[in-house]
Amino acid sequence: MRTGKYRLAMAAAMLIVAFNAWLAIRALHAFFDVQNWRAHTFEVLVHTKTVEADVSKSTAAVRAYLISGDPLYKSRYNDATADIDRELDAIKTLTVDNNTQQERLAYTRQRILVRMSALQTGIAMRDATHEMLGPVSLMAVLTDSPDHGPTVAYCLQQMENEENRLLNDRTAASLRARSVVVWTFVAASLLAILLLGATAELGIRAVRDRQALINSEAEIRVLNEELRITNTSLEERVEQRTKELANTNQELEAFSYSVSHDLRAPLRTIDGFSLALSEDYADKLDETGRDYITRVRGGVQRMGLLIDSLLQLSRVTRMDLQSERFDISQVASLVFGELEALDKDRSVELVAQPGVLVVGDPRLIRIALENLMGNAWKFTSKTPNALIQFGSMPGTGEYEGTTVYFVRDNGAGFDMQYVDRLFTAFQRLHGDRDFKGSGIGLATVSRIIRRHHGSIWAEGQIGQGATFYFTLGGPGADVNARA
Ligand SMILES: Nc1ncnc2c1ncn2[C@@H]1O[C@H](COP(=O)(O)OP(=O)(O)O)[C@@H](O)[C@H]1O
Ligand SMILES: [Mg+2]
Repeated sequence: MRTGKYRLAMAAAMLIVAFNAWLAIRALHAFFDVQNWRAHTFEVLVHTKTVEADVSKSTAAVRAYLISGDPLYKSRYNDATADIDRELDAIKTLTVDNNTQQERLAYTRQRILVRMSALQTGIAMRDATHEMLGPVSLMAVLTDSPDHGPTVAYCLQQMENEENRLLNDRTAASLRARSVVVWTFVAASLLAILLLGATAELGIRAVRDRQALINSEAEIRVLNEELRITNTSLEERVEQRTKELANTNQELEAFSYSVSHDLRAPLRTIDGFSLALSEDYADKLDETGRDYITRVRGGVQRMGLLIDSLLQLSRVTRMDLQSERFDISQVASLVFGELEALDKDRSVELVAQPGVLVVGDPRLIRIALENLMGNAWKFTSKTPNALIQFGSMPGTGEYEGTTVYFVRDNGAGFDMQYVDRLFTAFQRLHGDRDFKGSGIGLATVSRIIRRHHGSIWAEGQIGQGATFYFTLGGPGADVNARA
């Protein structure tokens, strides 16, 4: 954009300078023209003046001869008249392209002849009489106009006037042309100066812009450097905070672990003695007493379950991740076998895709499957023809490029409205009366999947069963899982 303007201004300035040069050349031509005309006019005038002088000289010579009769004056007369014809011829050549002057010249030549013949007559009369002529004769011979017509001087003056008039006309025309040229020249020069100034200004601005750019580049470099330093210190701070956070987490985990662990001993005591009470003192208690003991034992068992779940959750967080490649289908079948062994009264069908290989920590993934399949087992307890499925499929959308694993059942299902709560500890969508539990299982699973850099989500519908999906790290995340 700027270069375009710059070029345009430059081109305009150059054009105007060229136009100016042309004007100057034209003005010079006109000037030389006038000079030539002036020279021409002067040349003509030189010749007319010479003719006039020659005519006067011959008149003077004749007068002297008429008075003195000295032949010297006769020869002077001859000398003076000798050149007149040549001078007239020269004028004729000079004014050849001017008809008026040519006519005037012819007339002048005639008048000169009249003058010359009067003088000739005077000489002849003096030669014949050998004495001075009388005043009347003298007058007749020496008069400027013997026949009373226009004098030679007058005719020559007319010609000179014409030449002067022509010269004046041409000079005036050239003066007019000159003032036009001068003004045009001045205007064009001003314009050229303006344009050159503008071009220079543009150039200066371009240079300034570049300088500014260089300056801002330098500023950017400085800012970048500052940013880099800030980033480095920020990274250091983040690292520091992460370390602190990890330490705090560790302390917290250790605390919850030891609390859960320490709670177990008194709980075992309560369990043992309540059992002893119900067995050894059953006959000494009435119905209400026995009911209380049963409730105490139920509570103790629930608490034992809760403590086990909490311990598992904390263990899952503390355990080192030891990734390897293994057959997850086998783990699923194993877990299912254990569930069957624990609850021999139920008949549940398992459909598991065989030979699905994953990279991850087999102990942790086994815990995850225990929880997911345990849930499936539990929430199908009221479903006839209970079915649990395990398999894998290629991920789509956000999970494009990764494998998605799933555990599906045809049990109680859940309301999708509360799906977000599922993976939070102690959050349960089903009452303890229908399905017993601690509400910590899915939180544990979620933690395991997160440790594998994967995602977990669920789909369900009340009475239609539920499906839990999970991934084990995104594309390339297997490397992390292995680390
Ligand atoms: N397979 C499932 N079908 C229906 N609901 C489920 C299923 N798995 C989990 N849920 C819902 O998620 C809640 C949390 O699960 P979980 O953390 O394992 O706790 P718990 O199994 O102890 O109830 C369950 O109480 C239940 O409401
Ligand atoms: Mg559970």
